[in-house]
Amino acid sequence: MDKYCVFGNPIKHSRSPFIHQSFAKKTDQTLEYDTYLAEIDGFSKAVYSFIDKGGKGANVTVPFKEEALALSDQLSERAQLAGAVNTLTFKNGKIYGDNTDGEGLVQDLLRHSVGIANSKILLLGAGGAARGVILPILAQNPESITIANRTISKAEKLIEQFNNDKLSACSFEQTIAKEYDVIINATSASLSGNLPAISASIISNSTVCYDMVYGKSMTPFLIWAKNEGADKVIDGLGMLVGQAAESFDIWRGIKPAVEPVLKSLRASLDTE
Ligand code: ATR
Repeated sequence: MDKYCVFGNPIKHSRSPFIHQSFAKKTDQTLEYDTYLAEIDGFSKAVYSFIDKGGKGANVTVPFKEEALALSDQLSERAQLAGAVNTLTFKNGKIYGDNTDGEGLVQDLLRHSVGIANSKILLLGAGGAARGVILPILAQNPESITIANRTISKAEKLIEQFNNDKLSACSFEQTIAKEYDVIINATSASLSGNLPAISASIISNSTVCYDMVYGKSMTPFLIWAKNEGADKVIDGLGMLVGQAAESFDIWRGIKPAVEPVLKSLRASLDTE
């Protein structure tokens, strides 16, 4: 049976096995998909051992996405620009690295009927999560992407890597100088129960707010955005399932439906 896995540390609570096994069932594919706990200093060893055991592909999560990039023989453009790999494919003795996180976000926004083309996007954060979604958002032809970060120098450095005049960088305070259709929280603030320090004046009743983080309850950013009157607030669970669907397609050549798996994941979060 074709073998796949997700490498991470920690990895026990990963939803990826559930998601990929559900995709396989729904698309009549026969495959195995497990978690693989790699030692912090043992990522490449774990990958080679999985390949030796006949592994066909793998997802990669924290903290190994940059190492996965370095380990790949060949990279997609989006993985190169993301500076990280979340999808490995083992074929013909080679390791192919791709990154489906950004496409997962884009597909989730489109699924929620959020227009990206010609829209003004505000991306909060300038770490790995933000970097990973820039190229896929640009590919949808937005009017602009403003990248705001607590540490402005990081946002400035990030846009230099893309060399695209739709991108600009600013501080959180400077975000009030413009209007935005979609605000995406790509900071890790929600993970620690915090809110990026941005002014509520940038939220209007036509603003869509997206948080890449998800959980049993709404994130602080989404609660805040809703209270300030945002049109729509969306968490990152659909992005998680969306990136998995893209990986599945890379490996199996078939794009699984996101909706049913997302529904059961949401239900399982509610009962945790
Ligand atoms: P990730 O891979 O999740 O992007 P990262 O590369 O460590 O993680 O980046 C974390 C991002 O969240 C950064 O943009 C960070 O801002 P700084 O560059 O100023 O550190 C941002 N961040 C984390 N906690 C935050 C908070 N409480 N408020 C605002 N931004 C925060």
